[in-house]
Amino acid sequence: MFELNEKNYAKAARQAVAEGCVLLKNEGGVLPLVKGTKTAVFGIGAFYYYKGGLGSGGLVNTKYVVSILDALRKSEDISVDECICEEYEKWIKENPFDEGNGWGSVPWSQKEMPLSEEFICEAEKRNDVAIVIIGRTAGEDQDNRADEGSYYLTQTERELIKNVTETFEKSVVLLNVGNIIDMKWVDEYKPSAVMYVWQGGQEGGNGVLDVLDGTVSPSGKLTDTIAYNIEDYPSASYFGDADKNYYVEDIYVGYKYFQTVAADKVMYPFGFGMSYTDFEISGSVKNVDENSVVVDTAVKNTGDCEGKEVVQVYIEAPQGKLGKPVRTFAGYAKTKELAANESENISISCPKSYFASYDDAGITGHKSAFVLEAGEYKVYVGNSVAKAQCIGSFSQEFQVIEQLEEALAPIEEFERMHPVSENIEEQTVENSNENIEIQSAEKNQKNSCEYSMGFEKVPLRTISLSDRIESEMPEEILFTGDEGYSLKDVANGKIDIDTFIGQLSDEDLMCLMRGEGMCSMKVTPGTAAAFGGLTPSLERFGIPALCCADGPSGIRMDCGTKAFLLPIGTLLGATFNDELIGELFEYFGAEMKYNRIDTILGPGMNIHRHPLNGRNYEYISEDTILTGKICAAELKGLHRAGVEGTIKHFCANNQEFRRADAMGVISERALREIYLKCFEIAIKETGCSSVMTTYGPFNGLWTSGNYDLCTTVLRKEWGFDGIVMTDWWAVANWEGEKQDRKNRAAMVQAQNDIFMVCPDTENENAIDNIKAQYTIGNITRGQLQRNARNVLKFALRSLAMQIKLGKIDLAEYAPEWDTSFRPDGELEIIIAKGSHIEVSAELAEKVLYDDGIYFNIADTMAGDYSAVINITSQHNEYTQIPISVFIDNDYRGTITFQGTNGKEDENEISIGKLGEGEYYVRVAYRPHGITMNKIVIKKND
Ligand code: BGC
Repeated sequence: MFELNEKNYAKAARQAVAEGCVLLKNEGGVLPLVKGTKTAVFGIGAFYYYKGGLGSGGLVNTKYVVSILDALRKSEDISVDECICEEYEKWIKENPFDEGNGWGSVPWSQKEMPLSEEFICEAEKRNDVAIVIIGRTAGEDQDNRADEGSYYLTQTERELIKNVTETFEKSVVLLNVGNIIDMKWVDEYKPSAVMYVWQGGQEGGNGVLDVLDGTVSPSGKLTDTIAYNIEDYPSASYFGDADKNYYVEDIYVGYKYFQTVAADKVMYPFGFGMSYTDFEISGSVKNVDENSVVVDTAVKNTGDCEGKEVVQVYIEAPQGKLGKPVRTFAGYAKTKELAANESENISISCPKSYFASYDDAGITGHKSAFVLEAGEYKVYVGNSVAKAQCIGSFSQEFQVIEQLEEALAPIEEFERMHPVSENIEEQTVENSNENIEIQSAEKNQKNSCEYSMGFEKVPLRTISLSDRIESEMPEEILFTGDEGYSLKDVANGKIDIDTFIGQLSDEDLMCLMRGEGMCSMKVTPGTAAAFGGLTPSLERFGIPALCCADGPSGIRMDCGTKAFLLPIGTLLGATFNDELIGELFEYFGAEMKYNRIDTILGPGMNIHRHPLNGRNYEYISEDTILTGKICAAELKGLHRAGVEGTIKHFCANNQEFRRADAMGVISERALREIYLKCFEIAIKETGCSSVMTTYGPFNGLWTSGNYDLCTTVLRKEWGFDGIVMTDWWAVANWEGEKQDRKNRAAMVQAQNDIFMVCPDTENENAIDNIKAQYTIGNITRGQLQRNARNVLKFALRSLAMQIKLGKIDLAEYAPEWDTSFRPDGELEIIIAKGSHIEVSAELAEKVLYDDGIYFNIADTMAGDYSAVINITSQHNEYTQIPISVFIDNDYRGTITFQGTNGKEDENEISIGKLGEGEYYVRVAYRPHGITMNKIVIKKND
């Protein structure tokens, strides 16, 4: 039963963690641990649980976090050898947690404590099972590396696992990681059990315990292929390039590549994950019509404990002229909890659009269309891509699924992979386009696959983008000036939206395009941005100030307000459980509502193109259908609660290194079938009305200024009816020109409606180029009005508007939830001694932890005050450094610095009125990587 309260929220999160655990090995049934098991817990990871990843998505201030060790210690059925823990705790005193420099300069792992063979032998005598916890973090602005301590185990970790597995008969390795890591050590050291437990948010340890003790039988499945070698991933040759990233693997991402040409290089396949029980899966093709294939499946629990199973459907389309992967994931369902011997019949409907191919060359005679080529389509059903069995087939005539128009095609020649039948050395495909010639097939020796990879030239752009933009210029609405209508009049049906827009001045329209933040005081304190009615003029028209917050795994409020931390995206994907995720996100939505957040900056839905991408943890999977479906489930939950999600990063945000600069070079086919498809599914399934573009560029254009991305595909083709916002402080370019942060006119033209973020919406005319470009006619009033319409329609549907209209009474809403400001927790409080004149850093250090030092304000000095804060940081300009100011215990505001690249920077924040009296000032921030040079408390007049 869905009942809104924090207890149920935690319960759903705990269940998600348990269902997201992916068990890869369980020799001798070592798991679940039987009642009374004595465990020896090893690994520094036991003491530093990674609850989530780093960067903007990792800054939720949690009330509590339950680590795996905490949960084990509390268990009544399993005991933990505290002698071992004591040894670690002693070592940690000498070797404290290395925080690095914060943001993108944090170590991927912590130094492991070396343990002697004798110590482990002694431990073995006292315990039944060894549990080794390996931890890895990852995050924004920093990719993982194919190095020890990141993708690979360190020597000390290897020795630990080696000694433990040689000494203990029963050993379990738990991977508390955000991304998949190298797994070859499993074959080398042969632990009895291995399980990915991911980063589980604040309930992480509890969920893992449920699997360890058998309360829940694992049912999580890998959302990525784990290959033996990192070099074997097909994107490996260009991933991480500082300047250009050629997507040579094209649509052959993850299992689509491996199953087609390199099945023997896979250690653990996509969709794989074990259970404590066994299942028999069967199926048949029930029905095929114009739009979908319906597969009937039956799952029987043939083992002896209860459990859930994930049934997966894959399609093998004929190679045809376009070439296809031999498996395309087309649908899934999770069973209910099945008792031993119990069966469940599940019908899975797979839309044909999920496995249609996009013809970017015109080779089928239908250029720019999603098509199904004629032939036999085989249907596979099972519990991993490798194990799925052919359960039937259907014969398909050539069918155009959707005729579109060319958009986003590359402008630079390159070659992409294309499967070639193994018994043909060199092939030329008959086609109407001379560009397409299969050049050579790299012979795939000792491989069981039918195909090898050849290469073909990628079709280039043939349309003129400027002509398209010119021919689609929006009409201008007649300017009427203020006629006294407010947005409420649109909500109540008194006037239409265009009549309302007719009232807005040029200045109003430009201000609607500018989000404010971070941590604008016009919305919930500490959040990422305010947008909408931010100026007195827009407010007069009754437009509410709208609030967005990071995202995606909880509400980030930089002033220290506590919020619930959910498990990471990859873990949620691994559950393959839409219903559970929907329920969890309904709680999340309720919490957003309580905190007056209109849209969360998530779900993150980029494709796991390569295992080292730092932000894979926030995203779901290497598969676009799974990504789209899981994110749709999340969005549906949020929508039920009456709030929105901002799906990000649109699109192809696949590496963190030089993320704002490295140019992606991608075929239109790969974009449409892989990188856009997931967004399309989420939008079409849920009506999601908010999208965030990326920092980076592909095919010559930065995404925030890309008309075909933000208009042609998103709105014209998919019917998206919402807002598009930039990533924070993103840049844009005009075609053929360099990128520039001031170039917001390019964003206006593209219909990227909101630039995020400015310090003060009203004072940007001198900073960005909107007014200047408008004045010379490079952007029009019609375009500004069109974008304003998007923002206003969003505002009309928003939580803020419902509150304004009196339709929601927040006082009655989840009143027991405690969201009071608590600027403690994870924020380190620097207490700065103050006079009302100046506080220097040296003084601040001296008085650290001394909260009894006050400054006085004489009655003649009463008035409006500001804090001027001066810092230096070594980070780049995309790094967020929020600093909150408290006067006594009173929160006065947060100011967010961008990284200063080693230079000094100064910002002023209003701290409001101070009357005669005694005060002290506190400044709260995560202290890593910055030097606080000076804080000046200054009178404003
Ligand atoms: C991230 C976004 C995030 C935004 C606001 C950026 O650094 O890329 O994902 O939502 O900051 O914090």
